[in-house]
Parts: sequence; C-alpha cells; structure tokens
Amino acid sequence: MELTAVVTGAARGIGREVVTRLRAAGYRVVAVDIAPLPFDGDDGVRPLVADVTAPDTPGAAVELAVSTFGRLDLLVNNAARFLRRPILETSDEDFDGLIATNVRPVFRFSRAALPALIESRGCIVNTASISGLIGVPNQSVYAMTKGAIVQLTRQLAIEFAARGVRVNAVAPGAVDTGFMDEARAADPDPRASLAVTLSNHPIGRVSTPDEVARAIVFLASPESSGITGTILSVDGGYIAR
Ligand SMILES: NC(=O)c1ccc[n+]([C@@H]2O[C@H](COP(=O)([O-])OP(=O)(O)OC[C@H]3O[C@@H](n4cnc5c(N)ncnc54)[C@H](O)[C@@H]3O)[C@@H](O)[C@H]2O)c1
Repeated sequence: MELTAVVTGAARGIGREVVTRLRAAGYRVVAVDIAPLPFDGDDGVRPLVADVTAPDTPGAAVELAVSTFGRLDLLVNNAARFLRRPILETSDEDFDGLIATNVRPVFRFSRAALPALIESRGCIVNTASISGLIGVPNQSVYAMTKGAIVQLTRQLAIEFAARGVRVNAVAPGAVDTGFMDEARAADPDPRASLAVTLSNHPIGRVSTPDEVARAIVFLASPESSGITGTILSVDGGYIAR
C-alpha cells in the first residue's frame, strides 16, 4: 500500500526536504506552494501552485490527493512567513497578514483533511517553532502565530485520538533556509545577529532543513505510533538551556 501526503510550503527549505524524504519512504505527495515547485518529472508528486490563504486551496489539495492517489495518510502544515518586528512598529495589517498566512491555513487544511485522515488512521504534523514555546525578542506576532499552532496541535491530538489520527508538531530553532536569509538581509547588523543566533544554539550551529524534515517524517511514521500531542524541538538545545 502506497501512502499519500499533502505538504504545504513545499517549494523550498524544510518543506522541500520533507517531500524528498517522504518520496524516499515511498509516499506519494501533493506538494503545495505559492511559488513554482521543483518536482517536475516525479510521477509520485503532484505540484499544486496555490496560495494557502485562499479559502478553496485546502479542499483542492485534499481532493487532488484523493482523486489522484486514492487516499490521504498525512498532512504536513509547513508554509509560513516570518516577521521580526518590534511590537511598537507592528501594524494591524502585519498582524492580520501573519494570522492569515501562518494560522488560518493550518486550521483550514486540518479541517479539510481530517475526514480522509480518520478513514486512513493517518497523521498531521505541523511546523511550529521554538518561538511558539519561549519568548524571543521582536517576534511578538510571529511567535503568537506559532504558539497558536502549538495549541491547535494539542487540541486536535486530543479531539481525534480516539478516531486513530495522531497530531504532532516540530519546533525548530534557527534553520538554514531562505527564511533565515531573508531575515538576515533585513537585519541592520547581520553578523552580530548571526553571532547571537549561534550562541543561543548549544550545538554551535543552526539546523539543516533535512534535520527538521527527518523529525517530521519520524512523527508521521509508525516509529512514533505512541506519540500524539507532542511538540518535538529540533533546536540544537536552544530551549534546554
Ligand atoms: N528557517 C527557520 O529558521 C525556521 C525556524 C523555526 C520555524 N520555521 C518554520 O519552518 C517552516 C518552513 O520554513 P522554511 O524555513 O523552510 O522557510 P522557506 O521560506 O524556505 O519556506 C517556506 C515556504 O512556504 C511558502 N509559502 C509562504 N507563504 C505561502 C502561501 N501564502 N501560500 C503557499 N505557500 C507559501 C514559501 O513560498 C516557501 O516555499 C515555517 O513554518 C517556518 O515558520 C523556520
């Protein structure tokens, strides 16, 4: 039996590595991103170029998985935008925009996928962040969106445990992706902030996208069959300090 997944934010960074790892594990994947997807020529991947904030995208992604591959076993809610901004400089539009991109799609994709996941006794894995677990300077709204994902993860885990659906999240520290590059480009002193970032990670480096992807695939696999409602930090020891 070939398993099937929907992965959002799959064009680059962590999401792209998740698709690669899932393919290696034998999954077929609907890969969703607002940006062009780099999976042409792989019969096991159906690219869906779409904005996760659009109300019909979650249903379209689930429908594509079920109509193309016949089932859905895994939803990976991974797409998000970063915002590092002091709260006194944060506008209502910043706030609404980040909720719309980072939180509402996790709710909508989960709601759209759960009937098929109940049928397959499948899993949801969300990409949260250490910013959703601890206070981080100048990330109020971004951190709030990740805190919402942490709590939605626990909530859905409890609500669907008896129906055989496991729901977990990863909480990465800094990861070497375009996400970080863009944050650094907007930083007035990128070298100093990189030094602070590294000093916050006891292993002395940021994670690779593949290290986070491996944790996501673990939480989706039978290897983690006893785990639900867990937020798995992949942060080089950041929050253990
Ligand atoms: N990179 C880090 O340091 C870091 C740390 C903690 C958590 N995270 C989380 O990891 C996840 C993946 O981030 P990444 O680091 O791989 O970043 P990334 O920017 O490389 O990838 C994010 C992907 O999401 C897509 N995306 C953004 N908005 C979208 C929209 N409206 N519709 C469809 N697709 C959209 C982007 O096009 C991009 O391909 C995010 O949830 C992020 O919050 C990242």
